[in-house]
Amino acid sequence: MKLHAMELMPVQPESSFCQHLAPNEAHLWWARVGAMPAEVSAALRSLLSEEEQLRLDSIALEARRQEYLVTRALVRSVLSRYEAVEPAAWVFQSNAHGRPGVARPRTSIYYDFNVSHARGIVLCLVARGRRVGVDVERVDPKVEVLDVGAHFFAPSERADLVATAADLRCRRFFEYWTLKESYVKACGKGLAMALDSFAFSLQAGRQPRLRVSAPGDASHALWFFDSFSPGREHVAAVTVERRYPDEPIAVAYRSVPGVPGHPWGKGESSPRDPYPHIANRS
Ligand SMILES: CC(C)(COP(=O)(O)OP(=O)(O)OC[C@H]1O[C@@H](n2cnc3c(N)ncnc32)[C@H](O)[C@@H]1OP(=O)(O)O)[C@@H](O)C(=O)NCCC(=O)NCCS
Repeated sequence: MKLHAMELMPVQPESSFCQHLAPNEAHLWWARVGAMPAEVSAALRSLLSEEEQLRLDSIALEARRQEYLVTRALVRSVLSRYEAVEPAAWVFQSNAHGRPGVARPRTSIYYDFNVSHARGIVLCLVARGRRVGVDVERVDPKVEVLDVGAHFFAPSERADLVATAADLRCRRFFEYWTLKESYVKACGKGLAMALDSFAFSLQAGRQPRLRVSAPGDASHALWFFDSFSPGREHVAAVTVERRYPDEPIAVAYRSVPGVPGHPWGKGESSPRDPYPHIANRS
């Protein structure tokens, strides 16, 4: 699928900041990365800050350049759907572990966001005043999942991986992996958090659960998790902070206007919505 300039361009000012985001909702925005006509990449480039444009021009590898361009344009145009701020005007600042957040302008609502890219896909998760994390990975059958799991997974996760049927093991590995990364990204520490210091539990038909939380995570009971497949080749996970235990959280999928078709097609699964009555889908 080709990416068209309008897909990531903000619409008219009146409607560009009218996207409603309920307090207990998170929006998951999605874009594909691929070859695009010169005028499309020029339009997307115009959404970037000067610094980002310089960085873009310095990336030699075409695929990396496209990914950088679409990611930056997606984050900026998505944020500009909630507030009357020009996409290029957002100023970001990273914490000590490299997690970017909005530094300026100061808006009455703080929007937390997190992005993840894997070959061909960029996901951007946004929520109001609560921490979020997202991770997407391409399911790579070449990964020695038992060896990698032995290094990075908690004992219960390793045991589950060994017990999983061989033909399902690779996908199960990436389900754990993306959940773990989305959690450390929501916490803001990234891989500074030891991945084997906490454990997830996965059971068919149920939301993923954090069985053992990471040391120092005082809010271990206050996370919502989900795992899904945004395409046959990919597995993704989201983490959303709760304000109180068991607070209902809805993750609503949002495509950028103009993207033809729905990404969750045959053989794919969308984020499950355990509380459809509070979701405000469009
Ligand atoms: C964050 C991290 C888990 C990324 O995992 P990944 O699967 O390789 O990459 P993803 O595509 O899922 O995510 C990358 C995005 O996460 C965000 N990110 C970077 N560091 C992050 C952190 N500590 N927490 C949350 N998000 C982070 C960025 O937006 C990044 O995208 P960008 O570089 O295009 O802006 C991993 O790279 C990490 O822990 N990095 C931290 C390194 C660090 O501690 N640096 C300190 C000095 S800056």
